[in-house]
Amino acid sequence: MNASSHPHVAKSANMTPLFSASDIVAGYGQSRVLHGATIHVRRGETVGLLGRNGVGRSTLLKAIMKLLPASGAIEMDGAPLGEAKTHDMSRAGIGYVPEDRAIFPDLTVRENLSVGLPQRGRAGSAARERATWTEEEFFAMFPNLKRRADVAGGVLSGGEQQMLTICRTLMMQPRLILVDEPTEGLSLSMVDQVAQLLREVARRGVAVLLVEQKLTIALGLCDRINVMGHGRIVFDGSVDEFENNPSVRAEWLEV
Ligand SMILES: Nc1ncnc2c1ncn2[C@@H]1O[C@H](COP(=O)(O)OP(=O)(O)O)[C@@H](O)[C@H]1O
Ligand SMILES: [Mg+2]
Repeated sequence: MNASSHPHVAKSANMTPLFSASDIVAGYGQSRVLHGATIHVRRGETVGLLGRNGVGRSTLLKAIMKLLPASGAIEMDGAPLGEAKTHDMSRAGIGYVPEDRAIFPDLTVRENLSVGLPQRGRAGSAARERATWTEEEFFAMFPNLKRRADVAGGVLSGGEQQMLTICRTLMMQPRLILVDEPTEGLSLSMVDQVAQLLREVARRGVAVLLVEQKLTIALGLCDRINVMGHGRIVFDGSVDEFENNPSVRAEWLEV
């Protein structure tokens, strides 16, 4: 049974989404993890990607970012990104915040942020023109980062590094960010700050594909929920539909 024939998967809206990944098949060596995963994100939408640990959520984000060999179709604004390499994805407007906090430990906080600035060149100048995120804003939102602007990124706490990774990704002025378990292992106050930042991201019209294990955080931030099972998307619906469908939770999320 493919994903679109699954009873819980609604037909997608009759409008080109901002982003789509269709029939993604990928894995590691001989072991296949994704068996035809199909997901889309509309303009400005926050979509939660849920599933049990080990189900393949991170693998899907890596496949989208071309960090793994994968088959299937990936489109941004209806334009195919089949031949695109990892470094082309940010030019296409897609930012990626991996689960392992990708900061440069030897660069200062300020330098880490400027690494995120769009490169010179045609795609870069387009991104600079629509620039909405600046270092000053992040420092205003997160005084802790400002206080440590000239400190090496590597000495920040895990939560601060996570925040810095998200901020750096936003400095590339993406239209979509893929965020992999941003609150994992963070203190409650850092979880709140990450959630606040993601809410601001959505408010500014940047779309988000969010892998988030904490259900209350995911349901609070997302417009739509996708659930992964057996290497496919087995549920696609609004937060209300998800909440009114306890069998989805029982079958695909509870341990
Ligand atoms: N680098 C890797 N090499 C081999 N297997 C991997 C690798 N990374 C993940 N896997 C396996 O792929 C499956 C999906 O992992 P992952 O996408 O990380 O799951 P999730 O993010 O949903 O917890 C798991 O069985 C995991 O053990
Ligand atoms: Mg993961």
